[in-house]
This record gives sequence, C-alpha cells and structure tokens, in this order.
Amino acid sequence: MAIVSSYEQDGDAANKATKSKTKNLDPKPNSADLNNEKHNNLRPESFDEYVGQERLKQTLSISINAAKKRSDIASMGHVLLYGPPGLGKTSCAYLIAKELGSNIKIFSAPALERPKDIIGILMSLNQGDVLFIDEIHRLNKVTEELLYPAIEDFEVDLNAGKDDSTRIMRLKINKFILVGATTKLGYISAPLRDRFLHVHRMEYYTEEELSQVIAKSAAKLSLKINDEALLEVASRSRGTPRIANRLLRLVRDYSEHLEKNLLDLETAQKALDLYQIDKHGLDNMDKKILQVLIEHYQGGPAGLETIAGLIGEDKNTVEDYYEPFLIQSGLLLRTQRGRIVTEKGLEYCK
Ligand SMILES: Nc1ncnc2c1ncn2[C@@H]1O[C@H](COP(=O)(O)OP(=O)(O)OP(=O)(O)O)[C@@H](O)[C@H]1O
Ligand SMILES: [Mg+2]
Repeated sequence: MAIVSSYEQDGDAANKATKSKTKNLDPKPNSADLNNEKHNNLRPESFDEYVGQERLKQTLSISINAAKKRSDIASMGHVLLYGPPGLGKTSCAYLIAKELGSNIKIFSAPALERPKDIIGILMSLNQGDVLFIDEIHRLNKVTEELLYPAIEDFEVDLNAGKDDSTRIMRLKINKFILVGATTKLGYISAPLRDRFLHVHRMEYYTEEELSQVIAKSAAKLSLKINDEALLEVASRSRGTPRIANRLLRLVRDYSEHLEKNLLDLETAQKALDLYQIDKHGLDNMDKKILQVLIEHYQGGPAGLETIAGLIGEDKNTVEDYYEPFLIQSGLLLRTQRGRIVTEKGLEYCK
C-alpha cells in the first residue's frame, strides 16, 4: 500500500506526531508525488489567486469566516468537490486549509485499504486539521463505514479483544474537516454524500478566466507574453487550468528555442500547431474518439468499452478525461444506449 502523498503545510511537531502515530500504516510516501506537490509553484497560493469558481469561493469563504468567528473551525463542515480532472479540486483543498490556518493531510482513497489505515489517520488528526481524500469514490465499503461516525460525531469505532470476546469501543477524536474530491459523483454512496455540508461541482473555465490563470503563471515563470498569445493558449486549453499551464510550458520552450523576448500570437500558434493542439483544444485522442464512432458505428451509439478498445485507451481515461470535454463542447452525447456523435461533432470531423 502506498500513501500517495501525506503533506502538511507547517513541517511542525504535529507532523512528526502524525508520522510516528501512523507508521504502522506501512507508509511508502511516493517522493515523486511529494516533490510535485511542493514544487508545483503554479498552484494558487490564496483564494485571490484562485481564478473563477466564484460560487465555490464565495460559499466557502462565508463558512470559513463564520467558523473562525465561532472559534470552532471544524464547524465549517465537510466539503465534497467533484468534476473533471485539472479544474482545481486539490488546489482548493490546500486553500481551505490555508484560510483556516490548519494543517492538511492528503491521501488517495485506494491507498486506504485496511481498516487500520483510516483508523490510524483519524486518530492522528489534530484539532481543526483538514483531511483531504482524493478519488473518494474509490474508498472500500469497510473504510467508508468507519468514516461515518468520524465525520458525523468525531468518533471512531475500535475493535477490542479477539474473536468471541470482540467488543466495539467508541473513542472521541479531534474535530477535523474532511475534504473529498472525485471525478465521479455518481459512484459515491448516498450516506457518504449526505454527510458533506458543502457539495460543489467544479465548472470548466471560460477563456477569460484561463487567460488570467496563464497570465499569473507566466508572471511566476518570468515569461513575457502578450494578450493575444494569452488568449490563444487559453482557447486551446479545453476549459482546464492544468492544461493551460501545460500548454504555457510547451509554448515557452518553443519561444525560448526561437530566442524570442516576447511570446506573441504567431509564436504561440506555431508552437500549439507543432504540438497538435487544435483550435478547440482537442488533441489527437479526442478526434480519434469521434472518428472511430463515425467510421465504425455511423456516429453511434456505441458503448464506452467498445470505444476504449478501438482507440487503445483505458476506459476510465476515456470516461473521466476525454468525454467530459467532448460533451461540454457539444460534440458528443452520452445516452442510455451509448455514445453518439452530435451534428456539431459530425461537422467538426468533415
Ligand atoms: N482556479 C484556479 N486558478 C489558478 N490555477 C488553477 C486553478 N485551478 C487549478 N489551477 C492550476 O491547475 C493545476 C491543477 O489543479 P488541481 O491539481 O487542483 O486539479 P484537480 O481538480 O485536483 O485535478 P485531479 O482531478 O486530476 O486531481 C494546479 O496545479 C494549478 O496550477
Ligand atoms: Mg487533484
């Protein structure tokens, strides 16, 4: 079992305590991931830097401020963030912890295999900590049920004794805030979902919002880029800040390769064409999905597994990564009978 990432904002005594208390978890922190988190200097550092998602920011700020006034930060309630990858769920969790002045501990649900994994983590939490569980739809049933009393009453059930003499002991734990993230709200059971006070769907970003993300990132990278080039990168970023930052890095390399002092529209266009990112942000795999549906099924319907098989991609990647944007762009429909290319999609592939 690997704990994908366990990270605290202040490497303080609490951190050490957590690590020693959870060492029976056999933690194998993935140092590459840890380094990515720490060196991801493009992550927004405050809600002011966190572009867009206005309703999310507003509702969270209200609850955070109210909880702070009550001097009971855990009373802000648990938060569930759902939506396609790269829209800012993890970044938002960091910011909640930062605004609360709390430590954050990050785990990925598949890493919490055994009951003692989650129990160990829950018992190690300090008052007001933020516990972030990524891919929360992948929690196993036992772990999920152990979470219920913890998030509802801040209590854990411990098994004491062996076999016939097994007794359940209920222990109080420190009050904490659970932030769950998922790309698949539908896979979360109703009892778990209903225990979150805040359930928020992450929205795709507009081109203007992505331009702001890119402008902030360019400033952090000390890169000079003009407004037209900003918009060009934004328009090809499929509504997703992570992609915007990725494209910016590619465009920067190209611009540096040409020894340009200012990244302009022409340079951005040439670079993005070279990397085969088309005007709508579709890449080769997006196009392939539409094309196989048209070529093999006259536009559909066809099932997810069939499509994944035809393009040689994992079905979860097709469902979580490619499809949401194709659907959002009006190029593909997800129906009971399968996936169908829309009129707009047919037009696009001509
Ligand atoms: N609102 C935002 N403002 C500025 N930058 C953002 C915003 N949201 C995301 N980003 C940038 O995009 C990157 C990806 O965001 P993040 O890791 O938070 O997405 P995610 O929703 O957790 O994705 P996944 O589902 O893959 O875990 C961040 O590192 C950050 O650079
Ligand atoms: Mg994430």
